[in-house]
Amino acid sequence: MRIAMFSVQRYERVLLDEANLHHGHDLVSFDTLLGPETVSLAAGFPAVSVFVNDIVDANVLKHLAGGGTKLVATRSTGFNQIDLQAAGQLGVKVVRVTDYSPNSVAEFAVGLLLALNRKIPRAYNRTREGNFSLDGLMGFDLANRTVAVIGTGKIGRIFARIMAGFGCNLIGFDVHRSPEFEEIGGRYVDASGIEDADVISLHCPLTPDTYHLVNAQTLARTKKGALLINTSRGGLVDTEAAIEALKSGQLGGIAIDVYEQEAGLFFRDLSSTVIPDDVIQRLVSLPNVIVTGHQAFLTREALSTILETTLASISDFAAGRPLMNEIKP
Ligand code: NAI
Repeated sequence: MRIAMFSVQRYERVLLDEANLHHGHDLVSFDTLLGPETVSLAAGFPAVSVFVNDIVDANVLKHLAGGGTKLVATRSTGFNQIDLQAAGQLGVKVVRVTDYSPNSVAEFAVGLLLALNRKIPRAYNRTREGNFSLDGLMGFDLANRTVAVIGTGKIGRIFARIMAGFGCNLIGFDVHRSPEFEEIGGRYVDASGIEDADVISLHCPLTPDTYHLVNAQTLARTKKGALLINTSRGGLVDTEAAIEALKSGQLGGIAIDVYEQEAGLFFRDLSSTVIPDDVIQRLVSLPNVIVTGHQAFLTREALSTILETTLASISDFAAGRPLMNEIKP
């Protein structure tokens, strides 16, 4: 099947070609984002593949459907960038990657926590400059600290399991309780439980219900000096409120792999340009903040599975087989 692949990064191309050896699709890759200005590139392609920051709203879907597209395959688990209702009305099917190494994201979240708490990026920069002073590098033991896991799904549970190994107390928030989380030693609490957490790690999807889940009110209730880790979706955190909480010392630090305005920034080299986003500029300038550019999923295992699953879903669609990874409105 002819597939227009949007937002294809250099790191994906080799694995994509490898995965396609078993499928034989006719792939046309674009490094640009799909959006109103670029949707014309997809005209005549029955299948379109997108990633987390492509714009797949009602308007774009209308153009896709008009150009003959019948399937949108997102190379991600999250699908908040796609208007499923509009896709359904236009007869465009949507598939995602439900299962790929959740370890990739969970392990990265732990990495961010350790780097933030123990100030590893600062230490790394110092020693490269010949500065071996330890001033300002003090962290805290994670053992016996309380870690709040917001969203105890596949990634949240692996994160919880690793933190249990560190000797942490685990509290969880979720709309569905997971017996596995409780077996690990986790205890479900209501929103007021956040007051006990030394570390808060976000692992729930971005939905209208979870938009700005972490806001000025929530932050006012956290333990002073708590650390916030977000490897889920940028829109879960009100970034301006988080900056205020960092300035007042209410938050001890934040490490984010996702940012609510990341679409215009992430996955690009902007090092030679003036970045017009003052919020991210302020964030990266703070000593107790770590920002990474949506790389938590980026392990060889996860990426191979993402590409293989995406191409397999498209093969199923082409052959008229049931779509195991379809997301219905
Ligand atoms: P999952 O579907 O297994 O788990 C999500 C959990 O969040 C579920 O237990 C669900 O009940 C819970 N949830 C839903 N609404 C909630 C709410 N209002 N409050 C609390 N919990 C709620 O998903 P998985 O695979 O664990 O992924 C979690 C998120 O991680 C994805 O939605 C995606 O946004 C993000 N992600 C980030 C990646 C990255 O590279 N940074 C890569 C992959 C996923």
